[in-house]
Amino acid sequence: MAPALTHDATPFVPRDHTLPVLRDAVQRCHGCDLYRNATQAVFGELESGGQAKKPAVEIMMIGEQPGDHEDIEGRPFIGPAGKLLDECLEAAGIDRRRVYVTNTVKHFKWEPHGNVRVGKKPGTREIRACRPWLEAEMEAVRPKLIVCLGAVAAQSLLGADFKITLMHGKVQRAEGLPPILATLHPSSILRARSKEDRGRQKKSFTEDLRSAAKF
Ligand code: URA
Ligand code: SF4
Repeated sequence: MAPALTHDATPFVPRDHTLPVLRDAVQRCHGCDLYRNATQAVFGELESGGQAKKPAVEIMMIGEQPGDHEDIEGRPFIGPAGKLLDECLEAAGIDRRRVYVTNTVKHFKWEPHGNVRVGKKPGTREIRACRPWLEAEMEAVRPKLIVCLGAVAAQSLLGADFKITLMHGKVQRAEGLPPILATLHPSSILRARSKEDRGRQKKSFTEDLRSAAKF
């Protein structure tokens, strides 16, 4: 039987699922079109000892996609959303050095608004195309808990019907995956309409992170 044609990252993912090998290979991925307009792929990392083959990780956090800063620097969550994440992790008593941070989609999807590159939500096909990288990362990292930041990550792992508003902060089980807890995305907190909304969302986000820490 002829092999099924896959339009995803599978042909680009090496057999060796160790982080340095994966991080090098992702730069050559053409699993979907997003590589065309991005500066580089942004792979996951552990702030401390990101080069270790099997790092000691408790939590793997999955965002949506790199933003403008991340695309340029090549590292996840180093822009404004990353600052907010750091602050809330600290408030929740989680040591970021034990957290492996990555994204659902590894290339920055954007459109120009004047001179500004504005992030555009990745579509179902791109999310699906990039999933083999996420699976390789899960295998390399073997986290005790996965924290999905926002709907894109949650829906990638828990299905399109998953509702953050209803299910956030509660540990979910999905076959073949580590326990998963979904929460808000720090970027959406930054986009909140009013100061009050932002404060409320930040509090809820920190509480969810505390639940993750307890778990
Ligand atoms: N938002 C994300 O989802 N990921 C990043 O790396 C930065 C911002
Ligand atoms: Fe490959 Fe993912 Fe980049 Fe698409 S977004 S080219 S699947 S690494």
